[in-house]
Amino acid sequence: MTKGKASQIPRHIAIVMDGNGRWARARHRPRSFGHNAGRKAVRAAIESCMREGVHALTLFAFSSENWQRPQDEVGALMSLFVRALDKEVDELHANGVRLRFIGDLSAFDEPLRQRMQLAMSRTAGNDRLHVNIAVNYGGRWDIVQASRLAAEAVLRGELRPDQIDEARLNRWISLAELPPLDLFIRTGGECRISNFLLWQAAYAELYFTDTLWPDFDQACLRRAIEDYARRERRYGRTGEQIAAAP
Ligand code: FPP
Repeated sequence: MTKGKASQIPRHIAIVMDGNGRWARARHRPRSFGHNAGRKAVRAAIESCMREGVHALTLFAFSSENWQRPQDEVGALMSLFVRALDKEVDELHANGVRLRFIGDLSAFDEPLRQRMQLAMSRTAGNDRLHVNIAVNYGGRWDIVQASRLAAEAVLRGELRPDQIDEARLNRWISLAELPPLDLFIRTGGECRISNFLLWQAAYAELYFTDTLWPDFDQACLRRAIEDYARRERRYGRTGEQIAAAP
């Protein structure tokens, strides 16, 4: 008997939304067309998570490495984010969604940063579904920024270096206030983490699918959740220990 039950819903899901470019290329359209289709898949994923009772959904929208893409693609993605924020925030707010942006936001231009801040503060009181958008985010960056904050606390005399342990450092890692990451999904056929949520994914179940992000619909998310429910999460213990646990 495994610990996972068919009804087990992950509390926190993260998704690397890969495959927009290939989806567009298959249709002889520019990559921005794929990103725009990807935005509709984001909406579907948010709706699914609300229906399934997932508590938090974290999406990799723009990595710290994505600045290296052609300038017109970066520009198209930025204006897509602005349009999405302008268009979707009211409805998300009305549906009880709390929006957060994680990553080094200082790299974005002022109008976009302001929109992100406004969306975060407007929805800060919501608790039905926490949607976290990772922009200019890297998992190593996250660990470095947490270490820097720990070092500053030491300098202020609030903490001794020997008091820094995993639990303490975790307080400064992005999303520490949310349930731990349960399910890490990557679409688009690659089987790697690509510097997303390195710390948070320590005990997450990994799920890779060939489906390209714009095609990842509600049935795809259900399949990923069903797969998750069949996993045995042992956290270093034996299967027998897990079975004997209350
Ligand atoms: C990866 O596919 C996708 C991205 C770098 C951008 C993700 C952005 C969206 C899904 C747009 C909407 C997001 C929000 C939050 C409104 P890729 O371009 O690497 O695809 P490829 O591997 O097929 O080239």
